[in-house]
Amino acid sequence: MSEIKSSYSEEEIKRMSDDELARLGTEMDGVTVAYRKERFPVEGDPAEKRAARGIGFWWALSVIFGLAFIAVYLFWPWEYKHLAEDGLWLYTIYTPLLGVTSGLSIITLGIGAVQFSKKFIPEEIAVQKRHDGPSDEVDRRTMTALLNDAWKTSTLGRRKVLMGLGGAGVALAGVAIALPLGGIVKNPWKPRAMGIDGDGTLWTTGWTLVEKGEKVYLGRDTGAIAEEHHGHWSTQGVNRLIRVRPEDLDAGAMETVFPMTEDMVNDHDNFDPSRDVYEEQMHSIHGSRNAVMLIRLRHADALKAVQREGQEDFHYGDYYAYSKICTHIGCPTSLYEQQTNRILCPCHQSQFDALHWGKPVFGPAARALPELSINVDEDGFLYADKNFVEPVGPAFWERQS
Ligand code: FES
Repeated sequence: MSEIKSSYSEEEIKRMSDDELARLGTEMDGVTVAYRKERFPVEGDPAEKRAARGIGFWWALSVIFGLAFIAVYLFWPWEYKHLAEDGLWLYTIYTPLLGVTSGLSIITLGIGAVQFSKKFIPEEIAVQKRHDGPSDEVDRRTMTALLNDAWKTSTLGRRKVLMGLGGAGVALAGVAIALPLGGIVKNPWKPRAMGIDGDGTLWTTGWTLVEKGEKVYLGRDTGAIAEEHHGHWSTQGVNRLIRVRPEDLDAGAMETVFPMTEDMVNDHDNFDPSRDVYEEQMHSIHGSRNAVMLIRLRHADALKAVQREGQEDFHYGDYYAYSKICTHIGCPTSLYEQQTNRILCPCHQSQFDALHWGKPVFGPAARALPELSINVDEDGFLYADKNFVEPVGPAFWERQS
């Protein structure tokens, strides 16, 4: 090629082949190619075929793992199973399988890509001088030519199978990363059948069942798990939730309670060792808006308690029940300090006053903790005699209160 000029006319550029433009580009950029060697200069080299097969193997694996990830994500039984339930083993390997298949899909794609550049991209040593300033037309054109040259010499254009496998691997690895986001997208306004964890909308909880005419007790979490009998696990006769009586709490104590309908009760005088209510009780505990703090104020403090207008009869003597879901952004407000009667949310330090209908007195929460109206039945058990009068948890724009 002739001497490098500082600029070229449109005509001169048009007359040059891609090879000439590629060389011109490197030289105008002050790049000197000190060494360049094709990996397989002789066409039909058996080693080249072996290399292509090796890369194809890795990319085919990437496709297989990508498809396996999608299959696991869509069809594997993912719903929670407790210790005694059928399908527990399949459930426990659901998350590891997602990790293994997506990880292997990306790793095998990467191994194939590294192999491809080692086996097919020409070996080259190039040295470039740095220069400043924006690129002009000839630089842009020569850059394009260089990229074309890289594409041609990579041989990928004529390796349709490898290109298909590599492309599918990239697409499926992308899907493996993006697909789990799909599970997060759901319609928060679409109700399902009402159950012990609400109907799936933001304004219902298990306590809403009171409105449907059900008796809903305050259930304390025992932490019990399935029991082993003669080598197999069973939840028969195991109570995760039991009903609470006022005398179960000392003055100044707090207990987290969950809703329990009558068909979930299997405790005290009603205990039947052959009944299995464990699963339904776990659904109550898993209900994201179900947790309530039952507080027994010290009597001297209870005498100073101020009731919110319209909620004067929500408490039962010294017993008050407030939603445990923080009205800031929904953490559990777990810390009750009996000396000050304050309820503290550990997330952003909001504080609520248990003597003033759970109103916020410090921190970012702006609304009181909703109070649950409670009473004691003829058998001495605490139950909710009304649903919450406002939605629990943080703000959302349809919220009226
Ligand atoms: S979630 Fe309770 S203070 Fe922020």
